[in-house]
Amino acid sequence: MAGKTVNENPMSEIRIGDVTAKWARNNHLHVEYKDKQESTNLTAKELAFEEDLLEEALCLFVTDHQTAGRGRGKNTWTDSTAGSSLLSSWSYLLPMMPQPTASCLVGLAVYRACSTTWPFLKWNLKAPNDIYIGDKKVAGILLETVAQNDEARFIIGLGVNVTSSPAAVETSTSILQSLPEGAPLLGEDYTAFLDRLVFELSDAASHCDQPLSPTDQLSLLHALNLHPLLKEKYTAMEADGSLYLGAKKINWSEL
Ligand code: BTN
Repeated sequence: MAGKTVNENPMSEIRIGDVTAKWARNNHLHVEYKDKQESTNLTAKELAFEEDLLEEALCLFVTDHQTAGRGRGKNTWTDSTAGSSLLSSWSYLLPMMPQPTASCLVGLAVYRACSTTWPFLKWNLKAPNDIYIGDKKVAGILLETVAQNDEARFIIGLGVNVTSSPAAVETSTSILQSLPEGAPLLGEDYTAFLDRLVFELSDAASHCDQPLSPTDQLSLLHALNLHPLLKEKYTAMEADGSLYLGAKKINWSEL
């Protein structure tokens, strides 16, 4: 980041988890914040059907540092310094089980929130749903579901490197690192991002048992094809989330 140090930036001194919890309280969202915990997804799963939370359509679990952050499959998720990342789990109470298209919709929701807030950055999606800026990963999503009787808690685990990314992971970046010279990471921009994020995630959660609309299919195809490391561009997408490379069909769940 030539000519700009992190310390000159108004957002560098703050703790993202703490700021996010304050934003949630101001917006009357149910939020559980701890400065440190194993994994927000783990907490969200443990408390999925806790008595006190049964009336809450959306609970946000957020922290400033995870000691055992989890990624998809056997992956882990490491945050660089405490307070530098959005480490969050958005737990939605649903009357149905999410279908495989839920994964497509959530990736698109996060991509939309990011690219609306900072449209001049090279946002793109890497299937199944990693968020990149150019050729570097900036955010990851871990979806989990806990079911009880006719209800499900759809847990959207979202990690975003906001003010820094793990130095040991060369393929990662942060939003702050990616901003052009003269464009600081402002608190009001981060709040606008959260406003957009909760809108998009709630919309995705409410449609997560439905086929993808034509607009969603084309938007996903566009965001996936912007990924600079893609060897061959996807040619089509179907309502169930299947992708095509010419005549070759790939199911979303195989990505
Ligand atoms: C991936 O890239 O494989 C998914 C990463 C998901 C990380 C987030 S951080 C908050 C939430 N809690 C976790 O333990 N993981 C998710």
